[in-house]
Amino acid sequence: MADKLFAGGTVVTAEGSFRADVAVTGETIEAVGLDLPRDGADVIDVSGARVMPGFIDGHTHLDMPFGGTMTADDWNTGSAAALAGGTTTIVDFSLQNVDGTLTGAVEEWQGKAESARMDYGLHVAITNLTEDVKRELPSLPALGVATVKIFMAYKGTPLYTEDDDLFEAMQIARECGLLVLVHAENGDAIAKLQEQALARGDTSPKWHGLTRPEAVEAEATNRAIRLAEVAGCPLLVVHVSCAAALEEVRRAHARGSTIYAETCPQYFVFEYADLERPNFEGAKYVCSPPMRDPSNRPALWRGLQAGDLQIFGSDHCSFNFHGQKELGRDDFTAIPNGLPGLEERPAVLWTEGVRGGHISEQLFVAVLSTNQARVHGMVGRKGAIVPGNDADLVVWDPDMTITATQSNRHNRLDHTPYEGKTLIGGPSEVYIRGALAYRDGEVLAEAGSGRFIERAFRRAAPAAAVR
Ligand code: URP
Ligand code: ZN
Ligand code: ZN
Repeated sequence: MADKLFAGGTVVTAEGSFRADVAVTGETIEAVGLDLPRDGADVIDVSGARVMPGFIDGHTHLDMPFGGTMTADDWNTGSAAALAGGTTTIVDFSLQNVDGTLTGAVEEWQGKAESARMDYGLHVAITNLTEDVKRELPSLPALGVATVKIFMAYKGTPLYTEDDDLFEAMQIARECGLLVLVHAENGDAIAKLQEQALARGDTSPKWHGLTRPEAVEAEATNRAIRLAEVAGCPLLVVHVSCAAALEEVRRAHARGSTIYAETCPQYFVFEYADLERPNFEGAKYVCSPPMRDPSNRPALWRGLQAGDLQIFGSDHCSFNFHGQKELGRDDFTAIPNGLPGLEERPAVLWTEGVRGGHISEQLFVAVLSTNQARVHGMVGRKGAIVPGNDADLVVWDPDMTITATQSNRHNRLDHTPYEGKTLIGGPSEVYIRGALAYRDGEVLAEAGSGRFIERAFRRAAPAAAVR
């Protein structure tokens, strides 16, 4: 007998939308079907609403040191933002200390995540591929870590990685079943362009965009893909921002390569011109890759439609304007890179994508949840409304309308880049493993209720299923 019955709603999956009840026992989905027996169950009337699998965000940065400061959101405020948007699981980046181990990074992040209210997995971002770290990499899958990130950008910081290390990490990843995530921008060209801009006295935020042209992203995307092809390893290109980079992914798919690619909400609602906002306000829009000309958007929509872009992640990496973004008042290279998006990601995609007529509600669920589970190694547990999966459910109101202001956001920032933007579509209720976690603007999940999710990357299955 089920504990809870979500009755009368329209279940939306990556494959289709259909009228069905969802029965939940304990933390698990027990059955999906029409007119399921109610005997003794707590009946939750969801008629008129869509019932979707909890959204998964495979790209967040919480409580992370970056650009000489710490991200503004920690696991407490990050959890609140996640739940307010309908996200029930995130995969966050644990950062290797330059002299530290990968295991140390995972343990440090598990400590930070003790206050999590949503479920979470961890990537490891490699900052120093020493001989010891090369020997350590194969131990990650046993820790439940399926993914490592390597940065081709950010030259002059510990994140930057040369091609020889990128390539060797790919070879090791192939052998031990890890998925490599890559930040694809040419760090050398960017560093040179930045040096030249500063020497000319070009210090304002717009130069962040002008020193990271689309071609440096496209070049690095192609280089990473080609290196992965030589190494024989699958690859996930994160935060694809422009048509030129996407074209390299598309060409790789035409060659039959196992390349996954992610795009992010900011590239659909903000643009290069936001970096030119007066009074240093452009700093709020500094992230990498940078905001692009909107002429890139039709290609990005086509990429999602065609499956060249399989996932839509937030790259939530938030910094306050005062005291953090302001670090770069006299030098755009000192502005910490990143902006929030954990809360806004689903509503942006519903507003611009589904209501904008670019994608179906099934594709909405696929790129926010089902494909995220496939690419990030959580199939069988998350990302689908099927018996046996965790009962992570979003009761989605397709007409909910909210104009974003700093005060109605659930993150900890002193501003929102989304100020004044009207977003349509949002969760009225969110359940994690059967427990009510969010309702009508109020976060109900307790700090510490989130669980670490062990993930395993299964190359053959997601390659066939997603592409
Ligand atoms: O600007 C960004 N994207 N900040 C987060 C770090 C990264 O590169 O993903
Ligand atoms: Zn990145
Ligand atoms: Zn990121």
